[in-house]
Amino acid sequence: MERPYVTLSWAQTLDGRLATLTGDSQWIGGPESLNFAHQLRRDNQAILVGVTTVLKDNPRLTCRIPGGRNPLRVVLDSQLRTPLNSALVVGIHEAPTVIYSGPAAPQERLQPLVNLGVTVVPVSLRQNRLDLGMVLSDLKTRGIGTLFVEGGAAVLTAFLAADLVDRVVVVTAPFLLGKGIEAVGDLGQRILAQAPRPLSWRRWDLGQDLATELIFH
Ligand SMILES: NC(=O)c1ccc[n+]([C@@H]2O[C@H](COP(=O)([O-])OP(=O)(O)OC[C@H]3O[C@@H](n4cnc5c(N)ncnc54)[C@H](OP(=O)(O)O)[C@@H]3O)[C@@H](O)[C@H]2O)c1
Repeated sequence: MERPYVTLSWAQTLDGRLATLTGDSQWIGGPESLNFAHQLRRDNQAILVGVTTVLKDNPRLTCRIPGGRNPLRVVLDSQLRTPLNSALVVGIHEAPTVIYSGPAAPQERLQPLVNLGVTVVPVSLRQNRLDLGMVLSDLKTRGIGTLFVEGGAAVLTAFLAADLVDRVVVVTAPFLLGKGIEAVGDLGQRILAQAPRPLSWRRWDLGQDLATELIFH
């Protein structure tokens, strides 16, 4: 494969919300689901999030399972808005961080990130967003064969819309949120019969939550 094997995974409420309208998402899943997310981090060579998740959650994106290996941490951040004091930057000793930036990224934000040990890789835009194909092929050249995309909603939707997803694991928690950030946005599907179906699927319990795995490739 010319790109890494891509797994998308997220935790949602029963009505498909990833977070509240204010962006609060910690935590939707129970402890078993959190542990499962750390297994995904351990089992993939890289983990990717959008910059809004960095700004909202300030995640470390490390594997907290004893003996587990930390993945390479990847942020899609066309304007280099990742704060210098974010966990992904100040915690650079925990695992390397790569930020993909866009052609119009302010140059004054570049050098301070690089000075703190972050790798910044400029890529082109495609439909006003970072070109995911370029991101994936660059990750492949860095030796990344497996990528875990953890969110948020814009990034999950972009990977699905571009048909760059091999496997999806959705953790559904048994409560309702009502209005909030929907896990997956518009994929352009208007005819139900044309919605892409997985090659296979399975379900299992994660404590109170339900995990559903879809295999597409
Ligand atoms: N429940 C869960 O499992 C879970 C997991 C993760 C996050 N979350 C929640 O999700 C929320 C954030 O989600 P979000 O949808 O607002 O933002 P997001 O997906 O985290 O980040 C979106 C941003 O990424 C940048 N980006 C660059 N290239 C992109 C591309 N090709 N496609 C999409 N985005 C690209 C864009 O910012 P620029 O234009 O500045 O580059 C875009 O606005 C937070 O509230 C967080 O807590 C929940």
